[in-house]
Amino acid sequence: MLSIEGLRREFKEQGSGTAGGVLGIDLAIEPGEFFTLLGPSGCGKTTTLRCIAGLEEPDSGRIALKDRVLFDRAARVNVPMQNRQIGMVFQSYAVWPHMTVFDNAAYPLRYGRHQKMSTAEIRARVMEVLEIVGLAAFADRPAPKLSGGQQQRLALARALVHRPSVLLLDEPLSNLDAALRDQMRREIHRLQKETQVTAIYVTHDQSEALAISDRIAVMNHGVVEQVGDSRTIYDRPANAFVARFIGLSNMLACEAATLLVGDEVTVRTPIGELRGTRMHSGSASTHAIIRPETILIDPAGTIANRLQGTIRTIAFMGEITEYEVEVSGGTVLTVRTKDNGLRVGAAVTLAIPPAAVKVL
Ligand SMILES: Nc1ncnc2c1ncn2[C@@H]1O[C@H](COP(=O)(O)OP(=O)(O)OP(=O)(O)O)[C@@H](O)[C@H]1O
Ligand SMILES: [Mg+2]
Repeated sequence: MLSIEGLRREFKEQGSGTAGGVLGIDLAIEPGEFFTLLGPSGCGKTTTLRCIAGLEEPDSGRIALKDRVLFDRAARVNVPMQNRQIGMVFQSYAVWPHMTVFDNAAYPLRYGRHQKMSTAEIRARVMEVLEIVGLAAFADRPAPKLSGGQQQRLALARALVHRPSVLLLDEPLSNLDAALRDQMRREIHRLQKETQVTAIYVTHDQSEALAISDRIAVMNHGVVEQVGDSRTIYDRPANAFVARFIGLSNMLACEAATLLVGDEVTVRTPIGELRGTRMHSGSASTHAIIRPETILIDPAGTIANRLQGTIRTIAFMGEITEYEVEVSGGTVLTVRTKDNGLRVGAAVTLAIPPAAVKVL
């Protein structure tokens, strides 16, 4: 559907000589897919979207939508933004304050490529899209008299009104408060599935990305570190960067690994020798990651990797409670969904199933 090959848009950092921006990425996005670019601030997410939209001219690479080339440096193709059939929603939703909801949503049809559309056609299209985002009842209201969430929905309506093949969303929820953000995230998801528009969504919030995406590209310093669905990215991170960026985890440096059977290994770590599972065959086994929710406290039975420790901090966070446990050689983080009466200073036994010690 949308293919990006060798995309590069480099910005020289003043004085330092190091390069920022997008430093060569390849992506193939499927029709109707909800695809997310996830990564820390400055990793090149917005720059990538701007290149796709035609707001930024890449230094090199090729961008094609279905069988239409939008940009190809080598072939000197650069389709202007307004002819790319792409809708975009920004972080600041930028609705026009002097216009009604209806006029805001109608703007791209009146002043875009669709200038030949009749008033009746425009009315039908706009009301259809306002219906989809749940704003039909507000059509005649001045745009500033909408709540933040409603303004964001209006921005979505405006991006969808010309029926784009691809919808680009750049951190569209970051201006909303936490409760509204969750609600809008679900709405965007529903809307995307309903309209079947191919969506590329940008966020630096890993839980948002995991919840909403069909697939995620994790970016770092202008390159893509891993592409995969949420489960794969969470359960089988390609490297230490991805593991650290996605979800809470205990990250241990490994000194040596001994292969046992299949992908089972033993590794020497600062908190002792652990039985673990190698994630990628042939990898150097430099790090082991352990998700906090996989560590058991005072377990029954004979699970391997037992550690004696003392609880140092307890943080009640609502759905979960986080425990920091000091063990010989370091501290490990574990979480529980129920209060189990543990107090700071308590001596505990931790057990970590070998499948949960993921060796990268
Ligand atoms: N016009 C520009 N001139 C110079 N440097 C730029 C320009 N635009 C972006 N950059 C640099 O390129 C890098 C990537 O920027 P980009 O806006 O793509 O990051 P991002 O991943 O969207 O970050 P954020 O999550 O903070 O929005 C940054 O280091 C940024 O400073
Ligand atoms: Mg950005």
